[in-house]
Amino acid sequence: MIIENYFENEKILRINTQPQRAYFIPFSDKSSALKSERREESDRFYLLNGEWDFLYFKDIHDLEEKFFVDGYDTSSFDQIDVPSVWQMRGFDKSHYINSSYPFPFDPPYINIDNPAGAYRREFELTENDLTKKLYLNFEGVDSCYYVWVNGEFVGYNQVSHSTGEFDITEKVRLGTNNLSVLVLKLCDGSYLEDQDKFRTSGIFRDVYILRREKNHIKDILLRALPDKTYKNGEVEVTLKFEGKEKKAKFTLFDGDKELYKSEDKTFTYTVENAHLWNAEDPYLYTLLIEYEGESIVQRFGIREIKIKNRVVLLNNTPIKLKGVNRHDSSPFDGPAVTYEDVLLDLTLMKNNNINAIRTSHYPNAPYFTELCDKYGFYVIDEADIECHGVVVLPFEYDYGKLASDENFKEAWLDRVERLYERDKNRTSVIMWSIGNEAGWGENARACLEYLHKVDNTRLTHYESGRTKDGTLDDVDGSDVYSKMYTPISDYLEKRENFIKPFFLCEYAHAMGNGPGSLEDYQKLIYEDPHFVGGCVWEWCDHAVYSGRTPDGKPIYLYGGDFKEVYHDGNFCVDGLVFPDRTPSNSLIEFKNVIRPLRAKKGKKNSFVFINCLDFTEISSILDVYYEVSDNGAIISEGKIDLPEILPHKSANVTLSLPKLSGWSHIRFIYVTKNESALINKGEILGFDQIELKERTPLTISPAKSEVTVKEKENTIEIEGKNFLYTYNKVKGAFESLIYNNRLITDKKVNFNIWRAPTDNDRNIKRDWQMCGYHRAGQRCYETKVKVSDSGVTLTSVISLNAIIIQRIATIKAEYKIDADGRIFADIKVDKEPTFHDLPRFGLRFFLNSNLSKLTYFGRGPVESYADKKEGSFIGLFESSAELEYVDYIKPQEHGSHCDTDFLEVSDGEHGLRVTSLSAPLSFSLSRYTQEELESTAHNFELKECDDNVLCLDYKQNGIGSNSCGPKPLEKYSFNEKSSNFKFIISMF
Ligand code: GAL
Ligand code: MG
Repeated sequence: MIIENYFENEKILRINTQPQRAYFIPFSDKSSALKSERREESDRFYLLNGEWDFLYFKDIHDLEEKFFVDGYDTSSFDQIDVPSVWQMRGFDKSHYINSSYPFPFDPPYINIDNPAGAYRREFELTENDLTKKLYLNFEGVDSCYYVWVNGEFVGYNQVSHSTGEFDITEKVRLGTNNLSVLVLKLCDGSYLEDQDKFRTSGIFRDVYILRREKNHIKDILLRALPDKTYKNGEVEVTLKFEGKEKKAKFTLFDGDKELYKSEDKTFTYTVENAHLWNAEDPYLYTLLIEYEGESIVQRFGIREIKIKNRVVLLNNTPIKLKGVNRHDSSPFDGPAVTYEDVLLDLTLMKNNNINAIRTSHYPNAPYFTELCDKYGFYVIDEADIECHGVVVLPFEYDYGKLASDENFKEAWLDRVERLYERDKNRTSVIMWSIGNEAGWGENARACLEYLHKVDNTRLTHYESGRTKDGTLDDVDGSDVYSKMYTPISDYLEKRENFIKPFFLCEYAHAMGNGPGSLEDYQKLIYEDPHFVGGCVWEWCDHAVYSGRTPDGKPIYLYGGDFKEVYHDGNFCVDGLVFPDRTPSNSLIEFKNVIRPLRAKKGKKNSFVFINCLDFTEISSILDVYYEVSDNGAIISEGKIDLPEILPHKSANVTLSLPKLSGWSHIRFIYVTKNESALINKGEILGFDQIELKERTPLTISPAKSEVTVKEKENTIEIEGKNFLYTYNKVKGAFESLIYNNRLITDKKVNFNIWRAPTDNDRNIKRDWQMCGYHRAGQRCYETKVKVSDSGVTLTSVISLNAIIIQRIATIKAEYKIDADGRIFADIKVDKEPTFHDLPRFGLRFFLNSNLSKLTYFGRGPVESYADKKEGSFIGLFESSAELEYVDYIKPQEHGSHCDTDFLEVSDGEHGLRVTSLSAPLSFSLSRYTQEELESTAHNFELKECDDNVLCLDYKQNGIGSNSCGPKPLEKYSFNEKSSNFKFIISMF
């Protein structure tokens, strides 16, 4: 090898890097330092991003030439853009794996091919540059790298998501210099970076040189806390220096107003009547430090985070974390996200009421937490540690293997130290997390101890209290009790014994169609002062964009699409937003679950409004509009005179309501009054819908007059003035419906108990398959025909069965057909009680393809299910078979609408209308069959059905979160022994 082997030595974590320090960017003049929004505006910041020469090697041992020597000819090299990861640029291949190590487990060795990337570029330096101290910074390189300038070795570094800073002052020259970087895909550090994501390599974050003065400020420690009264703020600043130590000039600003000035090496200052920081009101002060020709600006908030009586308090006020887990992830660039990508994520989060982010599972770029300070997010800042792969080692269960391996202790501490030192001045960071799924042992304990020693102004977090012998209920030294995917019942059962606040660091696995029960969790979070909240898993779908299909659909690929031998399929496609950041219905759901204001019915015509924010008086930020609907029609609307409501408090509002006749509701819509951090004026932040008058199912009797009935060997033909229906006696199903000479369907209208499994059905699916639900067919034992003066009644006894097993269900179906061709259906079903919950129960129609327009009075406009219906409301909606499609990357059940009173499918003029005569029904209208959805791996491969598929359901099973979390709660499971489904179909 042309290099020293530092990459298989867990004790060599860096060579020649500068000590870890707080992140900041110096400027030369104070006015641009104070004005600047972006570091690129600093004349001391020399960004080396752009096209670099690049040569890829399948294995480090294949690299035989010293490509870093001065004068080396790289004309045969390829080009790559920095920052990027090489798997997204055509080198190596993409690989998604969740927890297993994608290499043999033999720490610290790498016993497989270890791909390497040789990077090289030139940079120019002027006379003036040479009078400076020059520091080369890498903010993220996966997994380790060697650096040379002008052929001279500069240093080595690892820990992918941390900054490596090298002093290159002595290595540079006037004019053209060259910089060579050798990056290895794997190193001993990879044993601590086994995070669930696409495994990528390269220089994936910014590279730059800082031009510093010979004497400069090396490090800043800034603490800004409220005093005991929470009125004033105590600001304390301490500096570390490089070169001669002199006094610095400090100026503290509140906006443009100078609060304080001094010349010293440190200062403390009390901000009288301080404006405290919180995520709802991210108020920042400005500190300017001038030193030896450099101006450094630090913006900071004054806030305190602490625990009292097992309650998390920010500025002495209980807060709730309404959070998400966020990975750096772009479908085009993998983890090499841009500033704009990050800002888009934060903007979306803000507009969806999210107030907390866990940087799963590593520190983000240093500007990330600055943006969180500015725009207001609580950050759980996580160290770059995960050792999940130890759990799948055969013949040995020792989750704590690397958490207790003495040889790796320094590496653990180093990673936590890098996290703390870099982000220690960030206001938004309220909790340090020492990593994820890395097990429990001395190393983990030492990391928590270290954090407590260096920082008593923040909380600590670690979830993975897992050892060789099982799971610890809680880990020593972390301030919050953190768990993932805890079922509500578990929490309720155990909470008595907890001695710390409870934090759900991951819950509500948002994979595909799901999660269910967000509202159930949120209710509990609001009710229980010790439950500080949680972070949904996860913010975005991870997938690799691979161009478009001929008809223009984007192609997103996931695990297994790159011929990986070991992979975890679409388990990476589990976000609240699709890869391109289109909000998924899960985000729409979550947004409303964590809306800032809630309303419920009060006495008579009054409504109770509850301010769900922690710090903001609600009428100052929201306007509330209302609309009253009667049978879906909006009959009155207006704006409410919302009184002042302090955080966590409620108020009554009385309205005069119009006279109501049918199923009636009032909907309150919460709209922003003003523009605020990342949110425009006039944005809808949520709504509440309250029922004003109960639904009474339609009562309607068959019209009198005669119909003609022709009984044949296998069928019964029913003919009226306008219609001809054919009923199949063998199956117990209509097989053709013709109305006014127009074809409604010419396929059997069979019973349907299957659904294209959602990702959250991945486990229950096996039980369902065992019960034969996916292959169920129907037969009819007998059909009685009774003709009367109000038409004809067919009564069939039918069973649902599947090969190998006993009868699944027995159905007694009664269809009354009147002179107008209306079908009154009364279906009684008895399910074999020993069988599992049903996915659904209903009928499936293959409707003539021209019947594609949809009108419904039910829960929309987005899909809704028993445990996922907070993002939707009851109304009269227009849609179509095309529009009802939900583009999950892995196709699955979608687009159902529960709580539906009636629906119409037509060609615009003619069609059919179904009205529930019993409880509201659920339905979906789709261009795809459930069989097609189930058997297709990617959305872009789906083939449309010739007909439009209408599924009419008495009920569907809940959604749950069981792709990783719990099954649907009992109350949402479809486990009735007997059910009665009544509806009427009328044609027009
Ligand atoms: C958790 C883990 C996450 C992710 C998730 C499943 O156990 O912490 O990184 O793997 O499960 O999507
Ligand atoms: Mg994991």
